[in-house]
Amino acid sequence: MTPKKNGPVPPSPNSAWVPVTIRDVAKVAKVSTGTVSNVLNRPDIVAESTRQRVLAAVESTGFIRNTQAHQLRGGRSHTVGVVVLDVANPFFTEMFRGAESRLQTEGYVLMLASTDGSADREANFVRAMEEHRVEGVLITPAAADLGALSGLRMRGVPTVLLDRKATADEFCSVTVDDVRGGELAARHLFESGHRELVFVNGPATVRQCRDRRQGVRKAVRAVSKTKKVEVTEISVGALTVRHGEDVVERILAMSPRPTAVMCANDLLALGVLRGLAARGVRVPADLAVTGYDDLIFGSMLSPALTSVRQPAFELGVAAAELLLDEVRNPDHRHREVRFEPELVVRTSSKP
Ligand code: RIB
Repeated sequence: MTPKKNGPVPPSPNSAWVPVTIRDVAKVAKVSTGTVSNVLNRPDIVAESTRQRVLAAVESTGFIRNTQAHQLRGGRSHTVGVVVLDVANPFFTEMFRGAESRLQTEGYVLMLASTDGSADREANFVRAMEEHRVEGVLITPAAADLGALSGLRMRGVPTVLLDRKATADEFCSVTVDDVRGGELAARHLFESGHRELVFVNGPATVRQCRDRRQGVRKAVRAVSKTKKVEVTEISVGALTVRHGEDVVERILAMSPRPTAVMCANDLLALGVLRGLAARGVRVPADLAVTGYDDLIFGSMLSPALTSVRQPAFELGVAAAELLLDEVRNPDHRHREVRFEPELVVRTSSKP
């Protein structure tokens, strides 16, 4: 490949890459290194023709700014850290996309990490992000308490809780009323005539699971005033498709057999549907199934999955707005932005 004139010269197999420097750019653009620095950091003070000439030289030489060096001189990293529970769950990646869509318009790059519910992994990721001098953190905490995030607060790192309420007013947060969401799903099944339900829930250490369980119990109390109902909760180790598939044997062995399965999220529900289909169990005729999150695949399944919709993308956008306000507004005050869940009834639980 013939390198462009003044273009970056790719290293030959046995030579190391020699980074293009700001001096190389200045030479090509026939300006001082100070002018190149101004174009990169304060373009508004540089004449348009000079700015265009320097940008052309940056392009033709293949110059890449050294962010670490820039930061050491007191520059900003233009980076935000995002820590979620499980990047394999489209709920979190959709929330991430919402935050990214808002922050990238302000020139931010996002670093994404998945804790899989581990407090140790969370601590390691948060430390690494602080070492990279992120300008803020969006996080779905892994731990039941927020103590692990006290360091961020102490060091003044703007932090917004994703899908988690702050215990006091120590952080901004974006949340969905999961108690209401659990109640909506259970009430729908009771109102559809079901009396024996199974609730497949995640670990009690996951706040979302505790709140959804609380909502189910609220629905049971309400319906028990006029009807006798029974809800058996099965707790699984994680909210994944495999855990949903693995629990089907237990459900089908129950006596009396339940007529409906309520799952704490759509991945569990997808696993339950796969397990039932493999055993020839008809949905909803033999067993109704509901999920939670209303992930993109739910409406594409056959039967299409009834679910409780969480506005994941909007949650991410709202979290980004809160973070930008905390970074920029000297009078910022922490607040919670709360969204309401919405029941989306589809074939998997239609009476
Ligand atoms: O991570 C567990 C669940 O909590 C996700 O499926 C989503 O519902 C979140 O709120």
